Amino acid sequence: MTNGTEKWRVKHQQIISYEVVNSYNLFHPQNPSLLSAGKGNGARRFVVVDHYVYEKYSEKIREYFHFNEVEAKIIPFRGGEDNKTVESYLSIVRELDAFPIHRRDEPILAIGGGVLTDTIGFVASTYRRGVPHIKIPTTLMGYIDASIGIKTGINFDEYKNRLGSFSPPKMVLLDRSLLGTLPRRHILNGVCEIIKLAIIKDLQLFQMLEADGAYSVDTFFQDERGGAILDRAITGMLEELEPNLFEEELARKVDFGHTFSYGLETHHEAHLLHGEAVLLDIVLSVLIAKNRNLISNEETGRIFQLLASLGIVLNTSVLDPQTLWESLEERTYHRNRQQRVPLPNGLGECVFVNDICRDEVELSLKNLEDWITVKHDHNIK
Ligand SMILES: NC(=O)c1ccc[n+]([C@@H]2O[C@H](COP(=O)([O-])OP(=O)(O)OC[C@H]3O[C@@H](n4cnc5c(N)ncnc54)[C@H](O)[C@@H]3O)[C@@H](O)[C@H]2O)c1
Repeated sequence: MTNGTEKWRVKHQQIISYEVVNSYNLFHPQNPSLLSAGKGNGARRFVVVDHYVYEKYSEKIREYFHFNEVEAKIIPFRGGEDNKTVESYLSIVRELDAFPIHRRDEPILAIGGGVLTDTIGFVASTYRRGVPHIKIPTTLMGYIDASIGIKTGINFDEYKNRLGSFSPPKMVLLDRSLLGTLPRRHILNGVCEIIKLAIIKDLQLFQMLEADGAYSVDTFFQDERGGAILDRAITGMLEELEPNLFEEELARKVDFGHTFSYGLETHHEAHLLHGEAVLLDIVLSVLIAKNRNLISNEETGRIFQLLASLGIVLNTSVLDPQTLWESLEERTYHRNRQQRVPLPNGLGECVFVNDICRDEVELSLKNLEDWITVKHDHNIK
């Protein structure tokens, strides 16, 4: 028995709603998209721009704001995992303090790859308990994945995304012409995430990659064929993210390729991009699925043929059973002590499994060399 009140319950609901919008020629002075959320004329914008994009577009961006009578502070930011740090985070906070923006209607603009949008999203979500931000991806990884969800983060000590938040952007603006200056390696890095979606949930996307993938890589996704692949990939990604924005459900199709890759990325950060690690995980997972008769020989062959047709060379030198197994153990812990590993169940379908054993991982690793050799024997380009 107690005297007086024992407890209070606070209940509050907040609707999350934001648009992901295709908008071409974003920096054209008469394109209203960049200023469409928040106040325009007479207002301010804090703009962080990937260093390479800054080199090419800083004049245009300056002219854009000048034409629209908005005072802008434009800050170049270096991409790359090395820069996803507490120090980068703090330096942006200091710049923000030196250029006060209105807390409600002067959203921060984050124009860059996943490193930049994750870092600036985290700044925005923590600065003065949260200011709005808009993401404008300039890498393919950002375009079809990092920018369109609500996760932000920076690395801390040896852990990736150790500090972060779930923080929806005000909007996401997509202008695929910005991808035109990416190195081919970074185009392929993003393509790996598209392949992931195709195998695990979308046969039609897989067929589109078979038909137009190589052409689209060569043309940096600049025309309609490439655009159709990107639109379909984004649709699929959002279908998965929207009902599970806060990841309450831990069995997620989008985690296909994200079980063994975690350890690979941590151990080989200097040699592997995120998508490259994901792809190594994908092929190993496909071979685990094949050994369980979840996916046929023919379907497995189509996957390896697709990779070859895209000119992807797998960096198998980083694969060792111990790292792969430890990564699975770590992810099992992360997924609340169950493996919840998505495996393809035929092409375009998925099952979740909780019973992968170390022998299976080692067997698929052995099988991998054979599949790569088969691909070369057939002289598939
Ligand atoms: N938040 C999420 O849901 C989510 C999802 C997937 C990945 N990520 C994160 O994304 C990051 C990887 O993103 P990324 O691959 O975009 O890396 P990145 O941001 O480091 O960009 C890759 C490189 O491309 C350069 N670059 C950017 N735009 C360019 C352009 N238009 N032309 C030429 N060069 C350009 C960058 O400076 C960098 O050197 C990782 O940190 C990963 O954790 C986050």
